[in-house]
Amino acid sequence: MNTNRLSPAIEAALNEQMTREASASQIYLAYGSWADANGYGGISNFLFRHAHEERNHMMKILEYILKRGGKVTITAIPAPPSDPTSVNNCFEKVFQHEVDNTTSIYKIVKLSHDQEDWATWNFMQWFVKEQTEEENLAISLLDKIKIAGGENAKDEALYSLDRDLETTPDDARLAQDVTTDNP
Ligand code: FEO
Repeated sequence: MNTNRLSPAIEAALNEQMTREASASQIYLAYGSWADANGYGGISNFLFRHAHEERNHMMKILEYILKRGGKVTITAIPAPPSDPTSVNNCFEKVFQHEVDNTTSIYKIVKLSHDQEDWATWNFMQWFVKEQTEEENLAISLLDKIKIAGGENAKDEALYSLDRDLETTPDDARLAQDVTTDNP
């Protein structure tokens, strides 16, 4: 008796996304190492924390595939892209990476909708929300570096940005959680 509740296309897409999340973790590890080697301990700490989050995303998908009776396929993880060339470039790369990941998540949402796989559609809504948060966070980081001077940011501005990021919360607040009492 076939107990796999995932279609072959959804199973393949979820496995691919699971590997993308593992790859994202490696990317954040690489950028975090670059930041630390260049003296930005706070940025490094922020990126290492994010690498951990991405591993958790990978595990959520792995667990979901198993719970739906599907087959998990662990493959090689692509090497991260080249190191950033500056703090500004680092956050631009982070932002672009998250936007690309959102595109990938949306494709699975659409596929599950087209196939009327409502369990997968429902599961993926957590990732839609998470991506909105992660994009918000990346945009706010880019705003901060822009105020600090972007590519021309001075050492003092980068120093305070670095200290700031050491304690920056891992999650950004979503628009739907805002009220007039608490804007
Ligand atoms: Fe798991 Fe940053 O997306």
